[in-house]
Amino acid sequence: MGDAKLTLNGQDFQLPTFEGSEGEVAIDVGSLRGQTKAITFDPGYGNTGSCKSAITFINGEKGILQHRGYAIDDLAHHASFPAVSYLVIHGELPTEAQLKEFEGGIAEHSKLPQAISDLITTFPKDAHPMSVLSSMTAALASVYSNYDDDTAEETNVLRMLGHVRKIATEFYRHTQDRTPVTLDPKISYCGNFLNGMFAEADGSYTISEKRERALNMLMIVHADHEQNCSTSTVRMVGSSQACMFASMSAGISALWGPLHGGANQAVLEMLEAINDDGGDYKKYMEMAKDKDSGFRLMGFGHRVYKNFDPRATILKEACDDVLAELGVTDPLLDIAKNLEKIALEDDYFVKRNLYPNVDFYSGIIYRAMGIPVNMFTVLFAIGRMPGWLAHWLEMREEGSKIHRPRQIYTGQTHREFPK
Ligand code: CMC
Repeated sequence: MGDAKLTLNGQDFQLPTFEGSEGEVAIDVGSLRGQTKAITFDPGYGNTGSCKSAITFINGEKGILQHRGYAIDDLAHHASFPAVSYLVIHGELPTEAQLKEFEGGIAEHSKLPQAISDLITTFPKDAHPMSVLSSMTAALASVYSNYDDDTAEETNVLRMLGHVRKIATEFYRHTQDRTPVTLDPKISYCGNFLNGMFAEADGSYTISEKRERALNMLMIVHADHEQNCSTSTVRMVGSSQACMFASMSAGISALWGPLHGGANQAVLEMLEAINDDGGDYKKYMEMAKDKDSGFRLMGFGHRVYKNFDPRATILKEACDDVLAELGVTDPLLDIAKNLEKIALEDDYFVKRNLYPNVDFYSGIIYRAMGIPVNMFTVLFAIGRMPGWLAHWLEMREEGSKIHRPRQIYTGQTHREFPK
């Protein structure tokens, strides 16, 4: 592919182009300012590629999501979350021996340092768990003296995967006035999360296989999603050479917002509000179309997917199955389905390509599993951890430059200071 030509003030400038492995085209504007003194302007970065990456491919028009070349549908239905984590982080599916070693490493590094466990018990019981998760993740750098040592990188990856789950469950137990339980290395990653949440004080808990399977699928569909807000934040923070724990903590904070991972909590609260209001979903649909109402249909729309979100398709199907398997009937599921049905036929939503996203159905499954609503985004964070780690490692390996966008200044021009 040849250069792109830009004409500015009657003068032509050449800009190199390149193609990704799935045929995506980029115009390299790295020399633009040097050549022209102009910069590109793209608030929200909808048209800006911030890096090259070999981890995840998305085609938003066709609804394709692949990790390291494997379709999300195959991974969600046939793999375990640790295997997908290994794939996302290391680039290949693990052999049986590699998976065993990887899972063993996570188990070995799950136990929290005492200082972190102690700190968790100092938080108010009504603190938002995302606040606790983000602060305790940053605090890991204060207890591991090798937090920024390249040779400890592999161990720190295992610590992150193990600790994120343990911080979440220990804080939940603190809110319930229950002591933490020791994780059991013989049970699965997701089984141990459920155990950590719901086991009796003596550690006894019968993990429902159905819940474990459902959680495994939920974790996999969240594993990575290329340059979304939180992953870009991880890369942005990491580009200053901040350590892994600080970068992951920043990613967790970015995820918390209701336009990103916080949407799963917001969807459930919206469905509950509609239900409490008599179930009149059509009224809320009209509100979502009225810009003055300040109300958005949470769990709808996506920056990249303009046809359907393949993760939502997987979860919608799973939602019916899981609720049936668990013998749960939920009026919120009917409201969700009705909202989706009328949105898919409504001009406002059709014209703007607004479809249900991953957060639309996930909350209903979490709720059926007995997960408290304010923990939903924490589950997103645990699921997204392998993606954040993979991007952080990829960026470090490539020796990325510090991320430092420019701006167009619109304030006061120089004026004299009154002396
Ligand atoms: N309800 C009603 N209108 C909407 C919605 C919605 N959920 N989403 C977008 N629109 C409208 C928006 O008002 C705008 O209309 P107009 O062109 O007339 O001004 C148009 O659609 C384009 O929206 P946008 O805000 O410019 O799109 P964006 O790409 O900047 O935002 C989004 C994407 C996901 C933040 C947005 O669709 C949204 O706020 N959705 C609800 C929150 C949500 O579900 N977030 C989870 C995203 S998926 C999980 C993840 O984060 O990975």
